[in-house]
Amino acid sequence: MIDTHEIVIDKVESSKITHTDFDNLTFGKTFTDHMLECTWRDGKWETAHIKPYGPIMVEPSCKVFHYGQAIFEGMKAFKDATGEVFLFRPEDNWKRFNQSAKRLAMPEVPKEVFIEGLKKLVSLDKEWVRYGEGLSLYLRPFMIASENGVAAAPSTEYKFMIVMSPAFAYYKGDVRVIIASDFSRAADGGVGYAKAAGNYAASFYPNNLALAEGYQQIIWTDAATHEYLEEAGTMNIFVRIGDTLFTAPNNDRILNGVTRRSVIQLAKDAGISFEERRVSVKEINDAAKNGSLKEIFGSGTAAVIVPIKGYKHKDFVHELPIIEDSYANRFKEALKDIQYNRAEDKHGWRVSV
Ligand code: COI
Repeated sequence: MIDTHEIVIDKVESSKITHTDFDNLTFGKTFTDHMLECTWRDGKWETAHIKPYGPIMVEPSCKVFHYGQAIFEGMKAFKDATGEVFLFRPEDNWKRFNQSAKRLAMPEVPKEVFIEGLKKLVSLDKEWVRYGEGLSLYLRPFMIASENGVAAAPSTEYKFMIVMSPAFAYYKGDVRVIIASDFSRAADGGVGYAKAAGNYAASFYPNNLALAEGYQQIIWTDAATHEYLEEAGTMNIFVRIGDTLFTAPNNDRILNGVTRRSVIQLAKDAGISFEERRVSVKEINDAAKNGSLKEIFGSGTAAVIVPIKGYKHKDFVHELPIIEDSYANRFKEALKDIQYNRAEDKHGWRVSV
């Protein structure tokens, strides 16, 4: 039982890193040697364990299978040219994780377990963080309801875990999107702002329909009117009309993205005209028709910055122009320079492991 949040470490006998092909990584398919597991029982967090990555034992009646009481975070660790390893804004993810926990009636995870656990785990599997353009270690803290029983009530037991996966690009190839005009991702008063596992499951069916039409993602619109852009599920969305950058304000339907916040800060630092306000689909379609729509791009931890090559809204199909000084490219480079410790970290976003 912990008051001190001790973390017990049990190391693998031999690493599987030599069998890993870092030149051919598929996002989220390869996992490092170790993982962290911490159980919440009898109203408190027990000792956290770092142990070899592997299966966990749960019964079929485990509540997460029946009611989807599960949340997660997405984060990354980066290595610089000298071999030093950094986390990017980890406190932001810890805070958002606990906001998600609260909304899903789950216990909050102490900083000592979340942040110290991440640091210890990443430092143990440091070799898995590769230095190189676009390379990182994707960190996936998550929590599941682990009590057995099918009564529809919050679990009395939870497992907080962290697994880690060496990562390259999330999207391979061009990304075109459908702007939603019927399905919705989130509703007022719901869980859209939380990183609830079910938010993602609910998007898979409409996303499959989009894929079948040749579009990789959906930009969700507000559920009430489908008139205003919200987010893209794996990414927040930015639009550049003329030289002004727009993004939707946070609300209880939109994930408060860490990369989104970083892009906003970088835009302000660069003196770019920026507005955080509702952007209507009509405004975008009009701008597309009169030539002032210069860019749409997504921002997210896994995806980083993804330029949207084209979109479809109802019967209107539009290809975005290829432009010289793209904001997407500028922000992507600026972010990478900070993450790989190639630029000054004015805002204190890098945290050494
Ligand atoms: C992330 O960007 O880390 C996310 O959580 C999105 C996920 C669907 C990969």
